[in-house]
Amino acid sequence: MSQFWKPGTERPRLIDDEEGGVLFYSTSALSSSSSGYGFASVEKQRQRLPVYKYRTAILYLVETHATAIIVGETGSGKTTQIPQFLKEAGWAEGGRIIACTQPRRLAVQSVASRVAEEMGVKLGEEVGYTIRFEDVTNTDLTRIKFLTDGVLLREMMDDPLLSKYSVIMVDEAHERSLSTDILLGLLKKIQRRRPELRLIISSATIEAKKISSFFSPSKRRQALQTEDHGPNAEPAILSVEGRGFNVEIFYVEDPVPDYLQAAVSTVLSIHDQEAMGDILMFLTGQDDIDAAVQLLSEESRNGRNQGLIILPLYSGLPRADQDLVFSPTPRGKRKVVISTNIAETSLTLEGIVYVVDSGFSKQRFYNPITDIESLIVAPISKASARQRAGRAGRVRPGKCYRLYTEQYFLKEMSAEGIPEIQRSNLVSSVIQLKALGIDNILGFDWLASPSSEAMIRALEVLYSLGVLDSDAKLTSPDGFQVAEIPLDPMISKTILASNQYGCSEEVITIAALLSMQSIWISARGTEKELDEVKLRFAAAEGDHVTFLNVYKGFIQSNKSSKWCHKNFINYNAMKRALEVREQLRRIAQRLGIVLKSCEGDIQVVRKAITAGFFANACRLEPYSYNGTYKTVRTSQEVYIHPSSVLFRVNPKWVIYNSLVSTDRQYMRNVISIDPSWLREAAPHFYQHQQPKPIAH
Ligand code: CDP
Ligand code: MG
Repeated sequence: MSQFWKPGTERPRLIDDEEGGVLFYSTSALSSSSSGYGFASVEKQRQRLPVYKYRTAILYLVETHATAIIVGETGSGKTTQIPQFLKEAGWAEGGRIIACTQPRRLAVQSVASRVAEEMGVKLGEEVGYTIRFEDVTNTDLTRIKFLTDGVLLREMMDDPLLSKYSVIMVDEAHERSLSTDILLGLLKKIQRRRPELRLIISSATIEAKKISSFFSPSKRRQALQTEDHGPNAEPAILSVEGRGFNVEIFYVEDPVPDYLQAAVSTVLSIHDQEAMGDILMFLTGQDDIDAAVQLLSEESRNGRNQGLIILPLYSGLPRADQDLVFSPTPRGKRKVVISTNIAETSLTLEGIVYVVDSGFSKQRFYNPITDIESLIVAPISKASARQRAGRAGRVRPGKCYRLYTEQYFLKEMSAEGIPEIQRSNLVSSVIQLKALGIDNILGFDWLASPSSEAMIRALEVLYSLGVLDSDAKLTSPDGFQVAEIPLDPMISKTILASNQYGCSEEVITIAALLSMQSIWISARGTEKELDEVKLRFAAAEGDHVTFLNVYKGFIQSNKSSKWCHKNFINYNAMKRALEVREQLRRIAQRLGIVLKSCEGDIQVVRKAITAGFFANACRLEPYSYNGTYKTVRTSQEVYIHPSSVLFRVNPKWVIYNSLVSTDRQYMRNVISIDPSWLREAAPHFYQHQQPKPIAH
């Protein structure tokens, strides 16, 4: 039993929110029977979704307005139905394509396969999807295409007006992902050049007004619009009425010291005391999700988890595991889905009756002063908390257990999250905008402006990488080439540099492995074994070279899953890395990079990495007994992450790939370097004490 709080032992309270209204959606008269459990035909299921009633209205608005904003709660059918309506109405005729963007890769795959299934077609033919490094479309056949917002941005580099699309649906706009914000600004520009293009912006929350005024044309343009009888340029807003059921909200009485433990206890208590119905638990990322899965599984010793099917859900999950999450719960069992905020609005899970909300999610934060971007576990907003709770009311009245106090919710939680663009490093965005010919970045039509400090930092880094010249224009060929490679500019630059150093094969392998979340299988309690296994591959130079050893071992094992298992290596991640590697090789060849191996001369690999990542150089503090490093640029204190092979080795000079913040700033994926390489790699960067400011 939970030591913090026992659900069910207190009188359930229906909490009003601070606006005075009842927090959740009105109970509609719809019955809660057989909701999507395969009893009804696909057509019947489609007709039951709330958007179905709005089919004609949606199609009319799209016909008559350049931009339609559609607001509807999660599960109402926006993502899966609207593209089909559009297709049925002829928007995909004449070789045109209907696009639907998502901020998350996993959502792209999942909704695409659902829509293909509903339409009875093979995924990758009439219905396809594209995420970075994975294109499941067919140039001749695909009419409905799901893709990440980031991939659509990339497509603009080859096709600036996105001319093959008749309708672009920017879905999950409320998430305000970095790429969505940039995309919206660019789509507004495209609209002026392509009056026949239709935009649908869909959102689970009522942030519609802001987006609507963003797309609203000036009076003058409006007058012009009426003259040429084009679609109404004023955006239309449609709200799709939901059918959510009441959700009772429970709060903890006192703050919990460990949300993971509290979440696990809560699930067990629900399982003990509450009627059947699936549970959805919101945690923050793969690490705490895996830990919760393990804690819950261990409960089998006490027999407390009988009848529980424990399923993780996060991006990067293998396909088969994703499918389990969406498959119906067998009779007499109870599913517990332990998810990141991907299940908040991007994916609809059927059958959820109980939600356990940790109150946290992993969020990106960037500090332009220190130039440090990190993913940290941070409190969610009220808007998110409401969305999470709403997931419990899909099939029948549900319950949501918040692992924070009511006081905290009311008084301390922020109303809404900060758009990602205001808390991100902008290096990748700036280079993309530059590549699209947007020269005046500060004057770009932003839905929410990023800080000028962040912008200047990004320009500085790109300048020091030799990607921008002193007029802040893309350099040729380097700048354009870096922009072509769909990776962080630092790693793209490393790939370019590898050409001079004759080690492109190795650097591409490293880039592919670094683009995986993790290639190791880690679980609570097996850290020690994992550390021992890592020693088999550990290279004195650091983690990047260790990756090369793992890759070599994997190839020598004939890509064996058994070998991976034995070595605590994630087989799926390795298989994906191989695909990514092949694509990067093709891109490199297109850019004229010679594919060449340095045949074990690791020094050149380290030099190539320095050429791309010199801005991440750190020096061990003299006389440091606890491994304190300082970043060369901003003198921030950082430490080598315990998962690194250089942990406790503490070479004098290192370069890191990324930082993670917990109690401290930890460098992940670290390699040792010789400091003289820094000046070689970036003379203008290291000859001054301060990075040289550049004109803009
Ligand atoms: O986009 P929105 O949240 O409005 O709803 P949706 O994702 O289009 O979901 C509509 C319906 O399709 C829900 O009843 C989902 O359960 C179902 N669906 C599914 O069964 N499997 C998926 N992979 C996606 C949706
Ligand atoms: Mg959706």
